[in-house]
Amino acid sequence: MSYNTILVEVTDAVMTITINRPKQLNALNGETIAELSDAFKAGESNTAVRTIIITGEGEKAFVAGADIKEFAEFTVDQGRELSRSGHQNLFDLVEGLKTPVIAAINGYCLGGGLELAMACHIRSASDNAMMGLPEVSLGVIQGYGGTQRLTQLVGKGKALELIMTAGMMKAEEAKDWGLVNHVTFQNELMGMAEKMASRIAKNSPKAIGLAIEAVNAGQVDGVNGYNVEIEKFGEAFGTEDFT
Ligand code: CAA
Repeated sequence: MSYNTILVEVTDAVMTITINRPKQLNALNGETIAELSDAFKAGESNTAVRTIIITGEGEKAFVAGADIKEFAEFTVDQGRELSRSGHQNLFDLVEGLKTPVIAAINGYCLGGGLELAMACHIRSASDNAMMGLPEVSLGVIQGYGGTQRLTQLVGKGKALELIMTAGMMKAEEAKDWGLVNHVTFQNELMGMAEKMASRIAKNSPKAIGLAIEAVNAGQVDGVNGYNVEIEKFGEAFGTEDFT
């Protein structure tokens, strides 16, 4: 599939997906979400791809949120559908991918952009990155999993503070909060993500996929993560990688 709003490149077992709408600060419109969904699925089904890195084109933004212009006139039903399909087609897909996904956050990472970064397995940020959830300043709330994933990452008190103030925080503060794993200079961000990808690539892709499933299981209502771990541990013994 050829894409209009993203760039996809595979080099040395790493698929790099770059959201390519720099004039709109890489805001996520419907087309971008559909293209991202397709690219992530293609990455997971390509056995040559061991890690996926997602970033934004330009020096200013990772993603400045969902494309506000697209939903300005939405009704209640349209709002619900935008959220439901976003969860399903992209954000839950990314979180559940068996191929590790690293967000290389290279600037503004707001609203749906932060929600996308939080759905990724690892987050690295450049020192100029600004993180925030401005939704309540627009009269809406997070619609792509932000209320849940932020709470899981930083705890309820901090999550509510960031959501209710609708403020932005710098990368270093986001690191203190546990929202991002690493902060580096902007010109070193992709190198850092690629280095991490090559460390990951030394390990068993099957085992990594099973570990992702076990870790994610702990966040699902009514699922006992310990039981899933027992199952996945057992499954690992049946893989060629273990043998
Ligand atoms: N959607 C659509 N377009 C956007 C956008 C967005 N989220 N963010 C920025 N843009 C566009 C601007 O409209 C502008 O386009 P034009 O030149 O055609 O006017 C261009 O990107 C550059 O933006 P600014 O001129 O505003 O740049 P700035 O440097 O002055 O400010 C900013 C940068 C602080 C990030 C500011 O653009 C901003 O506040 N953007 C909106 C951020 C936001 O509210 N995001 C949350 C969206 S809601 C959401 O994501 C809901 C959800 O969970 C589903």
